[in-house]
Amino acid sequence: MYAITGITGQVGGAVARVLLSAGQAVRAVVRDADKGRAWAERGCEVALAEMNDAQALARAFAGTKGVFVLPPPNFDPEPGFPEARAENAAVRQALDAARPPRVVCMSTVGAQAAQPNLLSQRTLMEEALRTLPFPVSFLRPAWFLENLRWDIAQARTQGVLSSYLQPLDRAVPMVATADVGRVAAELLVQPGEVPRVVELEGPERLTQHAVADALAQVLGRPVRAEAVPRETWGAIFRAQGMRDPVPRIQMLDGFNEGWIRFESADASVRKGRVGVAEVIRSLLD
Ligand SMILES: NC(=O)c1ccc[n+]([C@@H]2O[C@H](COP(=O)([O-])OP(=O)(O)OC[C@H]3O[C@@H](n4cnc5c(N)ncnc54)[C@H](OP(=O)(O)O)[C@@H]3O)[C@@H](O)[C@H]2O)c1
Repeated sequence: MYAITGITGQVGGAVARVLLSAGQAVRAVVRDADKGRAWAERGCEVALAEMNDAQALARAFAGTKGVFVLPPPNFDPEPGFPEARAENAAVRQALDAARPPRVVCMSTVGAQAAQPNLLSQRTLMEEALRTLPFPVSFLRPAWFLENLRWDIAQARTQGVLSSYLQPLDRAVPMVATADVGRVAAELLVQPGEVPRVVELEGPERLTQHAVADALAQVLGRPVRAEAVPRETWGAIFRAQGMRDPVPRIQMLDGFNEGWIRFESADASVRKGRVGVAEVIRSLLD
């Protein structure tokens, strides 16, 4: 039995699908019983837990062969990341109580960066869980290709990809969530020792021009990448409803300035199989 948090989301869902298709038993950890029903119909046990509820998480993790930890995304955290700190503490307490033989945690490219930014939430998670008295693995994937979901409407109607990753001709590691889920599932079931940190990217690094070309190919119309001027980001993010755009801007600066990057040498970064066009097509379904 493997307990999968975040199972109603992109990566957790992909992890669960791979495990189920391999005949493994899955416990779906959800915060909303209604959302658990679809997984119960697929043969999963269902456990209810919020990611900041240590007791509920401990029950959800008890008696399993492995746990997949998906820290919920939070693009607009309070200063000092109190939400992530509370979740990290609860997950740590629950794992320490349940002591599953295998733990795989979703982290991110750049979790090792010392500069504060949105991804510091995962730096804090790694710090909180690294000192547990049993092995915990951190999966650090690249920028998700599925982030393109927010760009498709504009590409379709205006033929423009508004890019925050700059310069436009710099190739950036990106990865499909299907690859992230598959690798997480492999790490959960693989016998023997599992590395402490696994970094993961897709089959090719992509410039923004290459992403625009892929959008053009799939949408059947010309699409060009345009850099969004940095001085406008704060106003744009506030207009989208963010209270504090600074951590997100710091994260984008980290990608663009190169201090959010893989920690290991390029040759050690695992490569996924799913390409950008396949992901764009899946987002149109
Ligand atoms: N986007 C990127 O480019 C990127 C790159 C590297 C790493 N990451 C990391 O990947 C993770 C996001 O994965 P994803 O795209 O699969 O996320 P997602 O699709 O947004 O799914 C989030 C999941 O977390 C659950 N959830 C949210 N808040 C919760 C709470 N308080 N208690 C319990 N469950 C809660 C959601 O359940 P409901 O259905 O109930 O909402 C859902 O199952 C983040 O940790 C992020 O840092 C992202």
